[in-house]
Amino acid sequence: MKTILLSNYSANVLRAILSLKVVDKDIPEPGKDEVLVKLHAAAVNPSDIAFIQGGYNIVKPLPATPGFEGSGTIVEAASGLKNLIGKKISCFVQNDEGGTWSEYFTVHKDDLILLDDRMDMDQAACFTVNPFTGYGLINIALMRESTAVIQNAAGGQVPGFVRTLAKENGMEVINIVRKPATAERLVKEGCKHVLTEQDADFKEKLKTLARELNATTAFDAVGGVLSGNIFNAMPGDSELVVYGGLSGKPMSGIDTMDVIFNDKIVSGFNLIDWKNELDKNEFVEIVEELQQKFINGEMKTNIRESIQFEDIVRGLKEYIGNMSSGKILIKP
Ligand SMILES: NC(=O)c1ccc[n+]([C@@H]2O[C@H](COP(=O)([O-])OP(=O)(O)OC[C@H]3O[C@@H](n4cnc5c(N)ncnc54)[C@H](OP(=O)(O)O)[C@@H]3O)[C@@H](O)[C@H]2O)c1
Repeated sequence: MKTILLSNYSANVLRAILSLKVVDKDIPEPGKDEVLVKLHAAAVNPSDIAFIQGGYNIVKPLPATPGFEGSGTIVEAASGLKNLIGKKISCFVQNDEGGTWSEYFTVHKDDLILLDDRMDMDQAACFTVNPFTGYGLINIALMRESTAVIQNAAGGQVPGFVRTLAKENGMEVINIVRKPATAERLVKEGCKHVLTEQDADFKEKLKTLARELNATTAFDAVGGVLSGNIFNAMPGDSELVVYGGLSGKPMSGIDTMDVIFNDKIVSGFNLIDWKNELDKNEFVEIVEELQQKFINGEMKTNIRESIQFEDIVRGLKEYIGNMSSGKILIKP
């Protein structure tokens, strides 16, 4: 089978991308409680980029096949799981041996989502991570009874799902982006509140809007100074939920007095921990609800291009150059 191998982690993203090679390898055998999946398409997410840079919380022994998410068909299975052969799945793989940027890979049964036949398999390649993250984030805002939320990196896919689910729940969204072109697109798509980080009056505008709309929950995928800017702009009794570190910089500039006197807090969100806290039935119901939204077309990942394994270097360079243009999929 063909697989993509990373031979060196490198903080320099271009160097990391250039170290990816397509090689031939034996098809792996499923271990206990595992199935073997034939890939339909693998997603490329910011976590994959952080992984090849050696900056993610998963560090595999090298050489390793990257890729945490994908869709495909089960073609072999450990004993006790043979009934799954032939099923279409979406999955999230974080074991040392696995990696979805491969024609075949093994997955633990608990990391699979069995798909409804009506699910589009390209959409399924990006189903296990971002839609559930958007769902988990919106639930935090609902539990806090927020009627408005703030989010940065607003041109990305998680923020897109947050907007869809916020609308469904009657919540206003203040969207923050870093490029004027992304702001223009969001306005064209009907977003009412869009701010660009570099605007001279960004901090004042954000503070005015946050207080006017009483935006008491914010979702931060960026970190750095933007975390402090958002935190300080929010009214009292607010929560900044950090779920990504796209700037690669430590969060900074948080107003100490706000934390002490205005009941404002910072928390973290991690999809795996969120999923582990749900009981099994609750998760099954959420899977069903989200699949239905994909089948109806209410939710959709914006996919810009599908590339073949051999195009991995060009594809990744294009993705990191303009992440707001949508995901690339890797296909055999
Ligand atoms: N904690 C969890 O469990 C969890 C789960 C899923 C996703 N995430 C995180 O969620 C975030 C978004 O993921 P995604 O798949 O939605 O991303 P995506 O669709 O690939 O898009 C990334 C977005 O981030 C923007 N961006 C990149 N670097 C930035 C920076 N330094 N400052 C400001 N904006 C920046 C990009 O804007 P440009 O177009 O300007 O590049 C783009 O709009 C990532 O950090 C990812 O790791 C976390």
